[in-house]
Amino acid sequence: MNLYDRNQKQREFFNEKIDTYDQVHESYMETKKMLAENLDKGTKKILDLGAGTGLELIHIFELFPSASVTVVDISEKMLEELSKRDFAKQVTTICGDFFEVDFGNDYDAVISTSALHHFKPEEKDLLYKKIYDCLKKGGLFLNCDKISFTQEEQNNCIYELEHNIDDYKHIDTPLTVENEISILTNVGFTDISSREVDKDNYRLIQGRKE
Ligand SMILES: C[S@@+](CC[C@H](N)C(=O)[O-])C[C@H]1O[C@@H](n2cnc3c(N)ncnc32)[C@H](O)[C@@H]1O
Repeated sequence: MNLYDRNQKQREFFNEKIDTYDQVHESYMETKKMLAENLDKGTKKILDLGAGTGLELIHIFELFPSASVTVVDISEKMLEELSKRDFAKQVTTICGDFFEVDFGNDYDAVISTSALHHFKPEEKDLLYKKIYDCLKKGGLFLNCDKISFTQEEQNNCIYELEHNIDDYKHIDTPLTVENEISILTNVGFTDISSREVDKDNYRLIQGRKE
């Protein structure tokens, strides 16, 4: 299954999960909070990739009440929930695939959580380049997401993705921290670091556009 079709499956998956999503993700609130806590002071213009119902944005608007946020998300149902939040008027939503839509430009920060662990390394090369390009000089990319602990674990996930074509639903393919860092380095990010998060296999990984 190609990337486009896999992403459409993600859309179906999240549209179907809408009734229970916020409840299931309650236990992940610490991972979402870390985005707001690690943004630069004075951050104003933010792009959130895969914001879903907007859980991480609750913390963003607590700490950055005058921020303007653009969200890209493929699930119209998730965005419908986001549009009910108090801060919705400060959010511009783009309903579409990360690999298809125009991100805009001049962002102080690009943030993402729990949304980028479904792509192969060569797909992340393209996505991270697109993220780099839409940031201002000095802008920050913050991603709090699942990782694989070993190369073997990563390879097994990708094998499963490539060999479960017929009943493909929602297969996680987190990369190792080393591979994440290598992709960020290759597209030009500097000041790259990774930090443990108080949630099983999550890490906060960041890079800056010089
Ligand atoms: C697990 S949810 C995370 C939502 C939110 N960031 C949070 O932490 O609660 C992943 C989100 O990414 C979106 N998503 C997944 N793949 C996508 C793609 N290729 N393009 C745009 N959005 C995508 C899904 O629709 C979903 O809303």
